[in-house]
Amino acid sequence: MSSDFRLGFVGAGFIAKFEASAMRSIRGVELAGVYALDGAEALSEYAREYGLGPCTVYKSVRELCEHCDAVAVLVPNFVRLDVVGQIVDAVRGGAALKGIICEKPLGRTVAEARELVRLARDAGVKTAYFENQIHMKAIRNAIAQLAPAQRAMGPMTLARSSEEHGGPHEPWFWDPVRQGGGVLSDMGCHSIAVSWFVLTPYGKDPMFLQPVSVQAETALLKWGQPRYAKELLDRTGVDYSKTPAEDFATGVVTFRNPETGQRVKGQFTNSWMYDKQGLRLLMDGMGPGYAFEVNTLRSPLEVFVGDAAAESVADAETALEKATASRGLLAVQPNEADLYGYVDELADAIASFRAGRDALLSWEYGSRITLMCQAAYLSAERGCVVDLTDARVRKDLDGYTSLIAQGRGAETLL
Ligand SMILES: NC(=O)c1ccc[n+]([C@@H]2O[C@H](COP(=O)([O-])OP(=O)(O)OC[C@H]3O[C@@H](n4cnc5c(N)ncnc54)[C@H](O)[C@@H]3O)[C@@H](O)[C@H]2O)c1
Repeated sequence: MSSDFRLGFVGAGFIAKFEASAMRSIRGVELAGVYALDGAEALSEYAREYGLGPCTVYKSVRELCEHCDAVAVLVPNFVRLDVVGQIVDAVRGGAALKGIICEKPLGRTVAEARELVRLARDAGVKTAYFENQIHMKAIRNAIAQLAPAQRAMGPMTLARSSEEHGGPHEPWFWDPVRQGGGVLSDMGCHSIAVSWFVLTPYGKDPMFLQPVSVQAETALLKWGQPRYAKELLDRTGVDYSKTPAEDFATGVVTFRNPETGQRVKGQFTNSWMYDKQGLRLLMDGMGPGYAFEVNTLRSPLEVFVGDAAAESVADAETALEKATASRGLLAVQPNEADLYGYVDELADAIASFRAGRDALLSWEYGSRITLMCQAAYLSAERGCVVDLTDARVRKDLDGYTSLIAQGRGAETLL
């Protein structure tokens, strides 16, 4: 296949670098260009070093769109609407985009997610919502391996999914207003999506199961303690003694099979206070008589760095995303971009846009994940189960911004 599909990036930070590294494993697409406030030159250099494409640095979103077949929105949550608005203006001005990719979470609120869906639909552009964990080969292989058992015994009834690490890399993630909350907004979206997908009967659409209720708790377990709040303030400028976000969230989403009426449960747990080796994704699923489990901290590769040698280790994060240690017995993942699903989500988006359709996960799908996340905040605030089949609750959610995302987290967390 020729490299005739031109992809552009808006944003050149952490995730852009990961996606560029995923492109090393994909044929038929080139990184044609990038527009970003910071980091564009370094990304372009990386792209040229690995033969990913010219990755021309453009001076505006419009200019980038005019030279690409699809663009990926890889910017912080608080500039999402603005950037997508600029992309849509470029399309209206004649840029022939086949699709737009957007990173998770689609919106910081239900209203914001819906607005993004509307913008893309009105512009007539196909969409891809990037939820990498659903594309993880481990998850897909587990589901495929268990398909015969599922057909014989019935679908999975319980899925548990967690993503945890010691805290994000950039200050804006910690700021509840700019990010849209804390760890529930940032990573709960992943875990809720994985459970929804795992529980979906084999072969059905990812939006087949209907979310009917959400029960959740949010808490500030580590970063609200005076000592760690000060450390965070010094490092990021965000003051968790005044405007905290949750560093721990857990809950259960109940789904209903619209054909059989069967109810199944997806449990999620997320934290920014997981002080182990680094990022851990832990997922399992259970059906009658069968099960699977994934733990990304288990690697076929271990390295050992003794105290005497540790001083020579310059960058602990070469071992694992969000790594916290550079000595001792370290779990090392040789290909994180592949392990976490970045390769397969990109391949799916490019193949879908080439064929003139939405990716497996569209922005409409992303907006439903936002709805479940926000329902989880509402549940935690009200201390009750949120019934998504209740029209009044749905209306409340349409105009809802969590206390935490309003910068009023002290009222619910401290
Ligand atoms: N799927 C995942 O596992 C995963 C992991 C990390 C981040 N993300 C998501 O990716 C998005 C970006 O996160 P990140 O970690 O790369 O952030 P980052 O802060 O590391 O990088 C953000 C990039 O966007 C650029 N930018 C900021 N404002 C801009 C604007 N108005 N116009 C153009 N460029 C602008 C910055 O200059 C920078 O290059 C977030 O929505 C985040 O939730 C997803």
